[in-house]
Amino acid sequence: MTSKIIVEPLHFPEGSGIDFGAVASNADIENLTDDDLAVIRNALFTHQVVVFKNQGHVSPKAQFKLTQHFDPAGGSSYGHGKTIDAKRSILHPDLKTIPHQPQVQVIGNGRVASYEGLTDFQLRHPHHKTFHATTIPEHEDLDFTRFYRWHIDAALYGPLAPSVVTTLLAVKVPGGRRQTCRYDDGTGDELDVPLGTTAFVSGYAMYDALSDEDKAFVRGAKMEYAPHPYVWMSSAKSRSDGLGLLSQGLEVPIDELPPHSPEETQILPLCWRNPVTGRLALQIHPSAVRKLHLADGTVIGDLAEVREIVHRLQRPGIAPKYVYAHDWQQGDLVLFHNRGVLHSVVGAFAEDEVRLFRQCNIAASQFPEGPLPTASVAA
Ligand SMILES: [Fe+2]
Repeated sequence: MTSKIIVEPLHFPEGSGIDFGAVASNADIENLTDDDLAVIRNALFTHQVVVFKNQGHVSPKAQFKLTQHFDPAGGSSYGHGKTIDAKRSILHPDLKTIPHQPQVQVIGNGRVASYEGLTDFQLRHPHHKTFHATTIPEHEDLDFTRFYRWHIDAALYGPLAPSVVTTLLAVKVPGGRRQTCRYDDGTGDELDVPLGTTAFVSGYAMYDALSDEDKAFVRGAKMEYAPHPYVWMSSAKSRSDGLGLLSQGLEVPIDELPPHSPEETQILPLCWRNPVTGRLALQIHPSAVRKLHLADGTVIGDLAEVREIVHRLQRPGIAPKYVYAHDWQQGDLVLFHNRGVLHSVVGAFAEDEVRLFRQCNIAASQFPEGPLPTASVAA
């Protein structure tokens, strides 16, 4: 291997449960060789989150090409395809598409005069008050925050398979405040975070934290996602920990969704197998779940019950000691393995705090692989 890229695991304080994340140095993202790409690919599947510092110069095209490398057969459709165009989709207001590189989206906060062919546009950092059933009081809003929504970047309906990787480039980052992220779920859990962090947790750690009985359960089960899930959930409200929705009957009724068919419904394994390490990640988009298909053929269709099961399985994995809250610096290019981690927007910016990020992911050519037959899976 002749690549000059050096990959070093991130280090965390004593007591941390975070066992993922790495920094890669010596990379020329605009001119990656095949050897470089092999190193980056291996780093992603080994460490799940890979940080490249000082990459503010990287073009949208180079970002797209790096993202596309992880699944060359995946074509060039943005991970959510055109579903973000649906007026009622919850994803619609958060994204601006770069005209000359439509797989790359601009996200952030504040008013921007001009950027990559976009002019005079408003970015809005998602705030939990638009999505959670309860909110942090206004007078505490600058100091306290919540996980907005734990998720995987995936369409979860139709032919588009969950992206393998998402790349995020921090072009502009407002300086230095910190906030306390509260779970507000009666546990007292909270986490000190940099303003506007992206929070990551490992699906592998989430799986490993389960009892043997639950491991067997999740290995055999599949999740049926709602049709047009981002429209379906648009009127529902989240739990205070951002990990799934409350069951208040607020979802858009199925017969009021855009046209859909049962063949387009996605039913995916709960555990996704890492193509390099073979580890199993518990990968569930908790807000989009609708029905649970058990190993014995039973289908749990009661939405409240499905959500309770999913929350019970996932909640230990988002405990503060498992959360990596990336401290964004201008020029950070972060690649994350979308099939091995869950992530969440965090934070509340003031109106005049301008932040500009570029995000790219591409719908994959293949759906994630589930567990191997039980005999060959280590518990
Ligand atoms: Fe995301």
